[in-house]
Amino acid sequence: MTNNISKPEDNIQLKNIIAHAKEYGFVYQSSEIYDGLQAVYDYGPYGVELKNNIKELWWQSMIKLHHNIVGIDAAIFMHPLTWKASGHVDSFNDPMIDNKDSKKRYRADVLIEDKAAEYEANGEAAKAKTLIKEMSRLLEEEDLKGVHDLIVREDIRCPFSNTSNWTDVRQFNLMFSTQIGSVADDANTIFLRPETAQGIFVNFLNVQKTARMKIPFGIAQIGKAFRNEIVARQFIFRMREFEQMEMQYFIRPGEEMKWYEIWKNIRLNWHKAMGIPENKLRFHDHDKLAHYANAAVDIEYEFPFGYKEVEGIHSRTDFDLGNHQELSKKKMQYFDNELGKSYVPYVIETSAGADRLFFMVLSNSFVEEEVGEGNDKKMRTYLKIHPGLAPVKAAIFPLVKKDGLPEVAKKIYDDLRFDFNLIYEETQSIGKRYTRQDLIGTPYCIAVDHQTLEDETVTIRERDTMEQVRVKINTLRDEIGKRVSMKNILENID
Ligand code: GAP
Repeated sequence: MTNNISKPEDNIQLKNIIAHAKEYGFVYQSSEIYDGLQAVYDYGPYGVELKNNIKELWWQSMIKLHHNIVGIDAAIFMHPLTWKASGHVDSFNDPMIDNKDSKKRYRADVLIEDKAAEYEANGEAAKAKTLIKEMSRLLEEEDLKGVHDLIVREDIRCPFSNTSNWTDVRQFNLMFSTQIGSVADDANTIFLRPETAQGIFVNFLNVQKTARMKIPFGIAQIGKAFRNEIVARQFIFRMREFEQMEMQYFIRPGEEMKWYEIWKNIRLNWHKAMGIPENKLRFHDHDKLAHYANAAVDIEYEFPFGYKEVEGIHSRTDFDLGNHQELSKKKMQYFDNELGKSYVPYVIETSAGADRLFFMVLSNSFVEEEVGEGNDKKMRTYLKIHPGLAPVKAAIFPLVKKDGLPEVAKKIYDDLRFDFNLIYEETQSIGKRYTRQDLIGTPYCIAVDHQTLEDETVTIRERDTMEQVRVKINTLRDEIGKRVSMKNILENID
């Protein structure tokens, strides 16, 4: 009997990461005291620092490293016609199906993809490919009955009821709507943006003219997006409220494949520079293109539940600008001095989810290993986060809470707090304090001991190796600074 959809709670590693994220102040379920809100999450004290650092790295890598990319911050609410022009009103649908026995709802395409992944895992790659091809064709032709029949034919069962007693497949629009102003009628219905990209497209001319940009140029933005996802699965992987980091690169028509390849490589290098191993990343070409794209690829990371998308790179042609031009009746054209003519630019988009990147960094850095020998053997858990991204850069400890050591340690804290995000801790044994910092991924711990009083030196303990070096207090700013600088990551991207 097949039971091909794995329940997230079956995955021990995933379970440990989720528990760790909660216990050590990274991610909490939203409104937990009311039993939570599905697929909505809050970031805790260390989570928000890590997420901000990931966003900062992305922002710097776009704006600082590229003279021809500028940023904006557009509003979440937009004119409703935006979403008509973008195709989201008509095409931003997922095919859904319900199991009549368990009453659980699924995305029909995800059920089939999971089945294909199962074939692949069993060494039946050709069968997997045929299945995905057939699904893509049926979805392309909007043959929802065909999708239903394929699910039944493949004997795909609900993991909760273990039956294949499925409803028909229906299309479900993923946009959240709300009313603007005090009168609730259809004319006042607006949508919460399902992608940040449209805020960039509608501002294309404003930015091009006011920042005097010449093609090729890019506009970058980080902001919230909202989707009424049918399936809430795998922690913060699929959320209803999430954050995107998107960059639209405006180019000459006909040059899209050149820029598509260039941006694929830049973005893959970005992930590697953050410390994600190359063998855990891969490109995955889209089998089914979104309504706006003529080429599209995902960068996938190998999560504990398999390879999943963390970022998309899309060749969006002139689809968006062209449609906005038509609906708004405003010219969305650029006069190219070199070519001596006007055109609607083509666009290459890079679109990453800040929450998925956070999840990737957390999963990748979660280490549980055995340390010590003989009777001293024990498990050590720590977060091997790149020092440039770590929520807290260093913790400062007096070895004991007496003999004048806390005063020296506090002075170091006061001197360095303008440069780094620090923690000062003086209670519990120093071993326990080191462990606590390991668990939140603090790369360096500075200890003030009795020798400090004699020669003004302290120890710096490195998180991953647990090795200690002694340095002069007056070199600490440089010693810590050179190790935790985001520049170390940025320099490895190009
Ligand atoms: N503007 C193009 C666009 O939105 P997408 O592939 O739908 O493309 C881009 O989304 C990225 O946004 C994804 O690669 C993913 O990282 C993130 N993302 C999309 N839906 C998400 C969700 N429900 N929860 C968390 N992140 C999501």
